[in-house]
Amino acid sequence: MRKLLITIDGPAGAGKTTVSKALADRLEYNYIDTGALYRGVAFEATTRGMAAEDDAGLETMCQNLDLRFIRDAGGARLYSGGVDISGHIRSPEMSMMASAVSARPVVRRALLEVQRKLGAEKAAVFEGRDMGTVVFPEADIKFFLTADLSVRALRRHRELEEKRSPQHFEEVKKDMERRDQNDSSRKEAPLKPADDAILIDSTHLSVDQIIAHMLDFVKKKIAEVNN
Ligand code: DC
Repeated sequence: MRKLLITIDGPAGAGKTTVSKALADRLEYNYIDTGALYRGVAFEATTRGMAAEDDAGLETMCQNLDLRFIRDAGGARLYSGGVDISGHIRSPEMSMMASAVSARPVVRRALLEVQRKLGAEKAAVFEGRDMGTVVFPEADIKFFLTADLSVRALRRHRELEEKRSPQHFEEVKKDMERRDQNDSSRKEAPLKPADDAILIDSTHLSVDQIIAHMLDFVKKKIAEVNN
């Protein structure tokens, strides 16, 4: 049976991670979080004291980076040069730095190859910002998940509380708005739905409702490609 390559793009806090993981589980596909790769670059640049605008430095660094996902019982962990950096890439500072370095064409170019290699075998759900527009324009199904800013900020605020690194709601909201603005207005691969993307507004939907909705499309597509 031919397996699908599914992309899920959208702004921060729209529920992409929860939904992508659940969908991948249901289909027994791989789940790939491409934001983690940009966060990995941000972490390595910060560790080296580099500025997000240092294109020459970023280019050299990216040429020598070895970012890999390694699965364990708890999900995929991100390794850089053989070291597990998963615990360092989720802070609000890394979110902003990831957004800043992701606007640099040298970084996007380096990660394009990494992502395409990961997608070579299909049977995967890729989560990101430009999966359907740039990285996998030939994807079998493209979803674009959105939600109102306040709802997204509230979800992220709760997530940070659960991780015991709380941030004021207003600050979370402001950071998110800035990040959305950076990610959608950059020249290269800006955040936007592909022309053939299926738009889903998750503002008033539960995770189960989103998954059920997505599975309708996926089942139809699986039947279509295997006919
Ligand atoms: O999905 P995330 O919040 O972990 O992503 C962190 C940043 O990485 C996000 O602000 C923009 C960037 N990113 C990107 O430019 N392209 C992707 N495919 C994924 C993330």
